Amino acid sequence: MTAVTPLVQHSAIGDFTIRDVIEGQTAGQLIVAADDWGWWVTLLGGDSIAPTTGIQDTVADGLVRAGFLIRRGRRYHLTHTGHDVGKNRGFVRVAVRGWEPTFRQLSANPHREYIPAATEPDEVARGCTDIARRRPEIFEAIGRSIAADIPGCTIDLGCADAGRVTALAGLAPEESFLGVDIEDGVIQTATSELADRGLSDRITLLAGSVQPEDEPPAWLAAVDREAVTTAMSFFLLHQLASDGDGIAAVLRGWMDWFPNLRRFVIGDGYLLEAPNWTQQPWFSPTYEIYHAVTGVRLWTRHEYEQAFADLGWSVERRLEDHTMLVTTILERA
Ligand SMILES: C[S@@+](CC[C@H](N)C(=O)[O-])C[C@H]1O[C@@H](n2cnc3c(N)ncnc32)[C@H](O)[C@@H]1O
Repeated sequence: MTAVTPLVQHSAIGDFTIRDVIEGQTAGQLIVAADDWGWWVTLLGGDSIAPTTGIQDTVADGLVRAGFLIRRGRRYHLTHTGHDVGKNRGFVRVAVRGWEPTFRQLSANPHREYIPAATEPDEVARGCTDIARRRPEIFEAIGRSIAADIPGCTIDLGCADAGRVTALAGLAPEESFLGVDIEDGVIQTATSELADRGLSDRITLLAGSVQPEDEPPAWLAAVDREAVTTAMSFFLLHQLASDGDGIAAVLRGWMDWFPNLRRFVIGDGYLLEAPNWTQQPWFSPTYEIYHAVTGVRLWTRHEYEQAFADLGWSVERRLEDHTMLVTTILERA
């Protein structure tokens, strides 16, 4: 007699179906391809698109069948859901393209505790900048707080493709900006784009690590450390804190690098947990699972705020985006 393991009955509202899994994956690929063709920018700008090749017809048709576009004659327009998807396409790019190499490695590594992140850096950078651009009022709040102060130098630690410093340079015209990121290729591409846009005198980008270590990083020698008055970091502190000695240790390291710091702007994904994926806001479970796979800790709001208070920083503004993405503007208490 063979023992038959009974199938566990589990049909709580909100469980994924096989259809969600397969069609969601295909829809994600179509969304990213349409983004690479500039379709979402055109559509969100209020124009329609007209495919000109067989491949474009197929993608447009797939996006219609997913409910994101509607066809009128030869042209395609956004639906309400399509508007939402187009605005949030950065999340799709990060998950579908940016983090895919990490998830792929699960198959060959069942015996390991963790798998080091293997990302597509350009895709992560572009996706993150698109995520940030969805909420211009957050940039405006940061820009206002910098512009209201005596002009100084703002550094973005882990700046990726410089999307954030570029947006802020427009809002705080007297401020100078620095960006540092560990991905040399991303920094090189961003540097030539800044030159093309005539922004090289306002924004300087450097390649290197911003993790405080015993020895200061080489890039710091090229920086006027005394001039830096605002230090920003978005969606990196959780990782540096996890690899190092926690949130306060990283912030203390940055305070040592920049003795005249008057402001911190810290954006990060906070830890929210629930047993089922669908009990959390979308992207939150993916964010949590991706970090669990790579062994990078996520931190709670309480842990961030405790570290800020311990180091003598008070919260000036707290700006929430999509529940778990939080930007905090801090000034010396
Ligand atoms: C999740 S992305 C966030 C990008 C950007 N700050 C944003 O929010 O739009 C993390 C960024 O940190 C960079 N990074 C990772 N480790 C780093 C380190 N030790 N030093 C500097 N940059 C690092 C990555 O290359 C990537 O651009």
